[in-house]
Amino acid sequence: MGRKSNRAKEKKARRLEERAAMDAVCAKVDAANKLEDPLAAFPAFKKYDRNGLNLQIECKRVTSLNPLAVEWAFELTRANMQPLYEQSEWGWKEREKREEMNDERAWYLLARDADSTPVAFSHFRFDVECGEEVLYCYEVQLESKVRRKGLGKFLIQILQLIANSTQMKKVMLTVFKHNHGAYQFFREALQFEIDETSPSMSGCCGDDCSYEILSRRTKHGEASAGHTHGGSHCGGCCH
Ligand SMILES: CC(C)(COP(=O)(O)OP(=O)(O)OC[C@H]1O[C@@H](n2cnc3c(N)ncnc32)[C@H](O)[C@@H]1OP(=O)(O)O)[C@@H](O)C(=O)NCCC(=O)NCCS
Repeated sequence: MGRKSNRAKEKKARRLEERAAMDAVCAKVDAANKLEDPLAAFPAFKKYDRNGLNLQIECKRVTSLNPLAVEWAFELTRANMQPLYEQSEWGWKEREKREEMNDERAWYLLARDADSTPVAFSHFRFDVECGEEVLYCYEVQLESKVRRKGLGKFLIQILQLIANSTQMKKVMLTVFKHNHGAYQFFREALQFEIDETSPSMSGCCGDDCSYEILSRRTKHGEASAGHTHGGSHCGGCCH
């Protein structure tokens, strides 16, 4: 009887500890989502003036963006990605993609040229993955005329900077294995690792999955590598 109630007490204490840890994680995500402009503290990253490009970069929540800019982003995503989605087990689902891109949790980095015409963007969110606060990059999409000029790398560096300054543990993203250029860009040029939740790592539908989940830890995430709390929507696939 005594042993049992001790065990019950320990279980309750562990539950309370886990709940407090999860509350702290959610508080960081909420604080990040309350920012007006996560790039405000980094004015040097608001322009990209290299390799023949002269661009202004802004960071806004979808709710503050002109709907025409979101529609442009959707059309660019369709042009760049539809065939790749169609080669995957996901297929191309136009309505879902449009909803995802207009979801109020969506943040956008938008690069515009001298005429204010958008040429590249990243859709990202602050979120909780497997009990950790993360910056999840949903898209990084460039018009073909601005590729291979270092802009993609610069946008991902900005995401890493924002993730650091908001105390997220890592930057995460999903990439199709058959998107060879993007795969090389993230894995080789930017040194992203295959995340522990990726199907090929978790053993769940490994080779049959046409995608990998990649990540790069921030300085806040390095200490906790391999020690996740097992919180909300965990697991890379089969869900
Ligand atoms: C993938 C993408 C974001 C890369 O952006 P980018 O500005 O063209 O890439 P960068 O100029 O910053 O490239 C940095 C390095 O990454 C590597 N890299 C980039 N694109 C590559 C490609 N297509 N093939 C092989 N390596 C590539 C190279 O090492 C490159 O350095 P280098 O040009 O000096 O050789 C961009 O090509 C794009 O928008 N593609 C279409 C949409 C897409 O697939 N998005 C990713 C979805 S997960």
